Order: sequence, then structure tokens, then C-alpha cells
Amino acid sequence: MSRIAYVNGRYVPHADAAVHVEDRGYQFGDGVYEVCEVFDGHLVDATRHLARLARSLSELKIRAPMSDVALRQIMREVVRRNRVRDGMIYIQVTRGVSRRDHVFPSADVPPAVVMTARSADFAKADRQAAEGVAVITVPENRWDRVDIKTVGLLPNVLAKQQAKEAGAREAWFVTPDGMVTEGGSTNAWIVTAEGRLVTRPATRGILRGITREVVCEVAARQGVPLEERSFSVAEAKAAREAFITAATTLVMPVVRIDGDVVGNGRPGPVTQALRTHFHEAAEFVAV
Ligand code: PDD
Repeated sequence: MSRIAYVNGRYVPHADAAVHVEDRGYQFGDGVYEVCEVFDGHLVDATRHLARLARSLSELKIRAPMSDVALRQIMREVVRRNRVRDGMIYIQVTRGVSRRDHVFPSADVPPAVVMTARSADFAKADRQAAEGVAVITVPENRWDRVDIKTVGLLPNVLAKQQAKEAGAREAWFVTPDGMVTEGGSTNAWIVTAEGRLVTRPATRGILRGITREVVCEVAARQGVPLEERSFSVAEAKAAREAFITAATTLVMPVVRIDGDVVGNGRPGPVTQALRTHFHEAAEFVAV
């Protein structure tokens, strides 16, 4: 079956899905995106993802390309046309196509919208979660508006490539004072020796992860105490458990940081319980 993409009002074969060379996303990284999980034929947390998309657009003064109802309709259609049961949807909105000029184009230039969907092997992810993954740490070198989910991801790309070359799954950005902000495409968490869950507050400095929000709810339901505060690399290495979260990763145990073993080197019980019960707190909408 061939893949289908949505590009500016049309459903086209993935191989032919293209945007104009003067799309501002292509030329300036002048656009935003969302990645939404598809699980068992359902859109997961679409409401929150669309709310964050609206916020990202508004922060960059890009107008909403269409209503949320229309966006949802395209999301469902892209999932259906690609026969995705388990996987993800990618949504990208840029400031549109206009002659190259740093300043915004005139108000009549419509935003450009692209959506793709693809299947993922969740069984493989579960096998990986049973083993846990490694992370490395890298200096934080991003701009201070990482709360906006922009397509300008060069530091993230370089950090994740460095992680891959080091045999790790993720790179954690670390501020000059040794505090972990987040991963290249995930939020970062630890479980302290006292069994308290710690993650950085979602003010500036990290993306307010949707998975992060749901995990906070799951933790509350399970009676796991949560501290929203910064933690250092040293504290993470000495933690009982560590994990990362994102729509594509869900809750993924971290068992090594810069080669140092976390806890007993195996995924911990708090992390595993959060992974197991994650979908109970998520919003499910049938495709
Ligand atoms: N990344 N932090 C960063 C920098 C991210 O890029 C992401 C998501 C997250 C987690 O957010 P959420 O829980 O809403 O997925 C945190 C997506 C999956 C990506 O870029 O592919």
C-alpha cells in the first residue's frame, strides 16, 4: 500500500508530496509542528496537541490555517488513508510561501499545512522499554523559546546524532550550572531514592510535553509524589530511576547516563507502572 500525505489541501502520494522552494519553513525554519500518537486506531490526546499547536502559532504570529474541527478531519483522513492502527501523525504549519524576505509576508499569504502518518512497531518499543535506553548529556545551546514547538531543530538534530554515535537513544541538554533541561525530542524525569518523581517545571527552558502532562496525571492517580523542579546531571546519575517521555516514545526507562548506570541498571518499578498505565489517563478519539 502506498503512503499518502496531505499537502496544502490535497491528498497526494507520499513520493510526490512536495512544498514550494520558497515555503518559509524550508527557507527560514519559520513554522511549527506537532507529533500525535495513534494507538489502537485512536488519536491520542489530539485536543491537547491541537491546543499546543494553536499556542505555538500564536507565539510566532502565524495565523491558524483552519479550525481545529477541520484539522481533526484531516488528521483522521490521513490516518485512515495510510491505514495506521498504531503509529503517529505529523502536522506542520509554516508561515506560507512568499518571495524570500526575512520580514513576514503580507497578511493574505495563507499558512502552509502538511500532514503525514506512519505506522510504528509498538511491540519493538515495548521490548526496548523492557531493557531501558542510554542517554548522553550535551551543553544546552538552543534559543530561549523552546516552549514553542518550531521546526527549527538544528541543535536537537546535532545532539541526537551525537547520542546515536555514542550508542545512546537520547541527548539531555544541560545548562552551564549542570541542570538538565530536556532531551532532543523528549522530556526528562528522575525518581529519587525517596520515590519522588522529579521533572523540570514547564516554564521556559523546555517544551511543555503532552506526554509529560499525562504522566503527571497518572502519577497523581497512583499516589506517586511529584516535584516540578530542576535536577542536575549528578542527581540524575544518583537517582533510583530515570526516564524520558514523548508522544512517540511514551514512557521510556533510562538505565545509563553518560555511561554511568542508573539505579540497578534495569528499568525501575515506578517507571514501568507509569508506562503500563499511561493510556488510562490519555484522551482517546476513534479514527
Ligand atoms: N518531540 N521536548 C522536545 C524538545 C520535543 O521535541 C518533544 C516531542 C518533547 C515531548 O513532547 P510530547 O510529549 O508532547 O511529545 C519534549 C516530538 C515527538 C518530535 O519532535 O518528534
